[in-house]
Amino acid sequence: MAYGKIPDSVIEAVLKHHDIVETVAKYVHLSKHGKYMKGLCPFHSEKTPSFTVTPEKGIFYCYGCGKGGNAIKFIEEIEEYSFPEAVRVMAEEAGIPIAWGGAPEGQRGDEGNGERDKLVQAHELAVKLYHYLLMNTTHGQPALQYLRSRGVTDKQIDQFSIGYAPPEWDTLARFLEKREFDPALMEKGGLLIGKQDRSGYIDRFRDRIMFPIWNRDGKPIALAGRMLGEGQPKYLNSPETMLFNKSRNLYNFHHARAAMRKNRRVVLFEGYMDIVKAWSAGVQNGVASMGTSLTEEHAAVLQRNADEAVICYDGDNAGQAAALKSIPILEKAGLKVQVAMLPKGMDPDEFIEANGANAFMREIIEHPVSATKFKLLYAKKNHILLEEEGQKNYLLEAVRIIAVLDSPTEREFYLKELSREFDMSLESLKQDCFNERQQLQKMKPQRDNNDNSWNNGRNENRENRRKSSAPPVLPAYQVAERKLLAQMLQSADTAGAVHRKLGEAFHVEDHAALAAYLYAYYAQGHDPDVSRFIASLQDDRLERTAASILMMDDDMPFDEQLLDDYVNEIVKVPKLREVEEKKEAMVRAERSGDMLKAAQIASEIIALERQLKGR
Ligand code: GTP
Ligand code: MN
Repeated sequence: MAYGKIPDSVIEAVLKHHDIVETVAKYVHLSKHGKYMKGLCPFHSEKTPSFTVTPEKGIFYCYGCGKGGNAIKFIEEIEEYSFPEAVRVMAEEAGIPIAWGGAPEGQRGDEGNGERDKLVQAHELAVKLYHYLLMNTTHGQPALQYLRSRGVTDKQIDQFSIGYAPPEWDTLARFLEKREFDPALMEKGGLLIGKQDRSGYIDRFRDRIMFPIWNRDGKPIALAGRMLGEGQPKYLNSPETMLFNKSRNLYNFHHARAAMRKNRRVVLFEGYMDIVKAWSAGVQNGVASMGTSLTEEHAAVLQRNADEAVICYDGDNAGQAAALKSIPILEKAGLKVQVAMLPKGMDPDEFIEANGANAFMREIIEHPVSATKFKLLYAKKNHILLEEEGQKNYLLEAVRIIAVLDSPTEREFYLKELSREFDMSLESLKQDCFNERQQLQKMKPQRDNNDNSWNNGRNENRENRRKSSAPPVLPAYQVAERKLLAQMLQSADTAGAVHRKLGEAFHVEDHAALAAYLYAYYAQGHDPDVSRFIASLQDDRLERTAASILMMDDDMPFDEQLLDDYVNEIVKVPKLREVEEKKEAMVRAERSGDMLKAAQIASEIIALERQLKGR
């Protein structure tokens, strides 16, 4: 049970200082339900709360998605930290001295950490080098001129650590070599490229304006290089590496995070330049996906930091189409979506250059339209409204867009707007909308009573089961194992008794593992402390299992008798299995006409069953 270099005492102090309710309440609105606190799970999207916190035990658990653990685990999950990172941050917050050494190299026996640190260091150096070359050398002059011509100020260049990669083949390669970075690792990390003839390495980025890309902690993990002027490819990005994941990382996230959390709102842009310009115009909660469309992973990251998303993509067709695609992704993650629309063909950077920061804030950012309104406007462009046919088709498409809205008020709102705009009776629009909804209803998988419905596919079923709040029915021996573990987690004596009577003979693998860890935990002289024990596990699945076991604990009085009953329930499983096997064997014998053998097996079964009953 090693935590690498983090001493037990630090973990203990961190858990002591960070109350589970306080920790969770910073992210989740909790309300009290008896011994539990309940709220909407921050890890999956849901409408009725299945996320619980038990203050007494210092743990959280979600019945919906199965995530669970102690306060450290919660921070790990919600902030996407590793275990050492979470402990470090929480310790710092609590003023607990961090005494377990500097870099987390090789921590948790993970070789990768050393390489990752090296790569981050290399990126830090590259960013500094490029920035220096841009600002202080004649080499950098054309690039600096170009940036200035586009209205980028020195302050913005500093803030975003913008730089310049010179045209030579090996500026960075030599720079890193001198500092003894392994060039093979630098290639893996996307900074260098191995020559075809394997005779050495060259720089990936040459003669480009460099935008560093940071991770959530503000460490540079990748780079994007823009050509000076026009040409293809306009941008060259780092490839995906052990540090950089395009479908997960968002440009400017670490700058934007504080403002995002404060306003509960994020603004989505398309380009680096838009972020830089919008920042000084006053949008400090802006992020951009980089050269890929927005993914569900991006949306999940955003949802953890904001409630609302404002999409501010380019005003051209590509930008608007991308906005349309991003809406459902963000909505599915649980964000309320609005769209800040730019005049035809302009991007945010151009708008700011042309009209100034004030106009950008007031006219664009502060006046977004709802996602529905945006869809309506987008659809409108596809129809020629001057023609009767075009009008009719638009109206029908508009009704389809409105029909998916859950709220009758919202539906009426947009239908009324349509009726005014096209001088149609609200009645007929409502009727069409109603019909459309009925069609939608038919297409939706039925929720209830799906025993004999046509869409009784396996996935559908699983989906429904996951959604229903009723816990799955477990076989008796599994319940017994869980009940025992719940007690063992809270009492060293009970753990001792179970150890003697049952050892590690739990049938569910995770239960056996938990028992083994518990025995060891108590053997080291620790007192029962659920949240601390969980911290020692260092295993996602076990942590969840432990949390779920504690959550089903129902305060039943527990005594020696009950303990024995549970133990028996568990030890008899192999015998029950044996009986089952024998019954099958008996049927086989009967079928093959071997009545003698069948009779013999039958008597064995009776003997086994007698044993089971008499214990
Ligand atoms: P400027 O043209 O300098 O204003 O940059 P921009 O950021 O506004 O670029 P644009 O609107 O053309 O593209 C938006 C985003 O798409 C960029 O910021 C990049 O992330 C990405 N992108 C654009 N062109 C390329 C390209 O050629 N290659 C890659 N990998 N990404 C690109
Ligand atoms: Mn642009």
